[in-house]
Amino acid sequence: MKQSKNTPNNESRLDRRGFLKSSSAFAGSAAALGSLSIERGAFAQADDTVKVALVGCGGRGSGAADQALSTSGDVKLVAMADAFQDRMDGSQKGLERKHGIKAQVKEENKFVGFDAYKNAIEMADVAVLATPPGFRPIHFAEAIKQGKHVFMEKPVAVDGKGVRQVLAAAQEAKKKNLKVGVGLQRHHQLGYQEVIKRIQDGAIGDIVSARAYWNGGGVWVRDRKSFEQRAGRKLTEMEYQMRNWYYFVWLCGDHIDEQHIHNLDVINWVKGTHPQSCQGLGGREVRNGIDHGEIFDHHAVEYKYPDGSYMFSQCRHIRGCWNSVSEHVQGTKGRAAVSGPHALFSNEGKQTWRFPGGGKNPYQQEHDDLFDAIRNDKPYNEAFYGAHSTLTAVMGRMATYSGKMITADEALNSNENTMPEVLGWEAAPPTLPDEDGRYAIPIPGKTRFA
Ligand SMILES: NC(=O)c1ccc[n+]([C@@H]2O[C@H](COP(=O)([O-])OP(=O)(O)OC[C@H]3O[C@@H](n4cnc5c(N)ncnc54)[C@H](O)[C@@H]3O)[C@@H](O)[C@H]2O)c1
Repeated sequence: MKQSKNTPNNESRLDRRGFLKSSSAFAGSAAALGSLSIERGAFAQADDTVKVALVGCGGRGSGAADQALSTSGDVKLVAMADAFQDRMDGSQKGLERKHGIKAQVKEENKFVGFDAYKNAIEMADVAVLATPPGFRPIHFAEAIKQGKHVFMEKPVAVDGKGVRQVLAAAQEAKKKNLKVGVGLQRHHQLGYQEVIKRIQDGAIGDIVSARAYWNGGGVWVRDRKSFEQRAGRKLTEMEYQMRNWYYFVWLCGDHIDEQHIHNLDVINWVKGTHPQSCQGLGGREVRNGIDHGEIFDHHAVEYKYPDGSYMFSQCRHIRGCWNSVSEHVQGTKGRAAVSGPHALFSNEGKQTWRFPGGGKNPYQQEHDDLFDAIRNDKPYNEAFYGAHSTLTAVMGRMATYSGKMITADEALNSNENTMPEVLGWEAAPPTLPDEDGRYAIPIPGKTRFA
């Protein structure tokens, strides 16, 4: 219901809109002025409409845009960006089917290619960043530079340099009072919140160890042959890797970073800090086909926290094995199933508390919380813990690839720079296939930590 002009509520609506604008104005650039003039032209009636740009219009990006559009109050998708036209078109159709006019994006506000993100971000109040994670540090830094609020998917980087960039942009966001959400949605899931509150209040005593698993069958493969058949031509190596991004470290970070981050992050949350060192083992036993790039299919890492306690972590992408996506904590007085059923037990095995159920879908809740913070100017910046949990995953990969003990400081300050010098369809990615179409696989003991 619209408020009349002179109600106190209306004033606060204007204040909120003022806040949205003032944060955008931080850009202080032609970009920001462009954004304001577009807004006046197109949305002069809808004063508190929050304008969203989607960067990376794949499965999760489309889901995140859907959730952003489903938050309360007026929200509109105003711009989209993707490396590939077909991905953007599919996403836009689906969003428009569900959200109608809220997801109608003008043709001139749809951008394709490696630089597309800049144009899309300019048009919005909130940037939803959901490309493969290799690009996240660049896209996040740009959004903050332009003075925009951000929802970004996890992981937030694939290497130490990327984590450093994200931490720097997170500081900048803090200074500019920009709100940042990170897609580690367990933080917005009531069962996790309730059980972790109890653990941190001492219900199971001091934590002595933790276990974190993402053991499953693996994910999609976008094979070269099918794309070339559909396109009726050879793909450039860059096109192929961008399509089949999961299997390349510069884009994905390996599945310890891309997926297992969720479980590592939960234990970091419980502990209130992140590990200082780790060592582990991993390899590529089963998933070693022509379209499986360069990543491992299993990692097992032992992480040590500053208080001397350990987290034992496993992630596996192999079918037909024991599967578990879960987190568990052992304390001096009892233990906890941090993941479902979100329950506490005595050391004798008696259940002492169990989450009674309830709460929203965490993917929706995380957007409700972010948009509430944006509209009501509440402090909100998840980028710091997002970056540290990303670092936990990245240092795990560095340990399994090299076979060495790696500290968090070494991982953060590592010289590894996975991003190609030039981004373009004809440019060379950092890893290239041999004449049989196969890529060099890391060899523990030989692969050097950089
Ligand atoms: N929080 C969660 O539970 C969850 C679940 C799934 C995925 N994710 C994360 O979401 C991100 C995307 O995963 P997805 O499953 O949607 O993958 P996807 O392949 O379906 O989508 C990625 C999209 O980004 C586009 N893209 C690639 N590079 C780009 C660039 N430089 N600029 C613009 N667009 C670009 C691709 O063309 C594609 O459309 C990943 O970081 C993934 O880890 C999070």
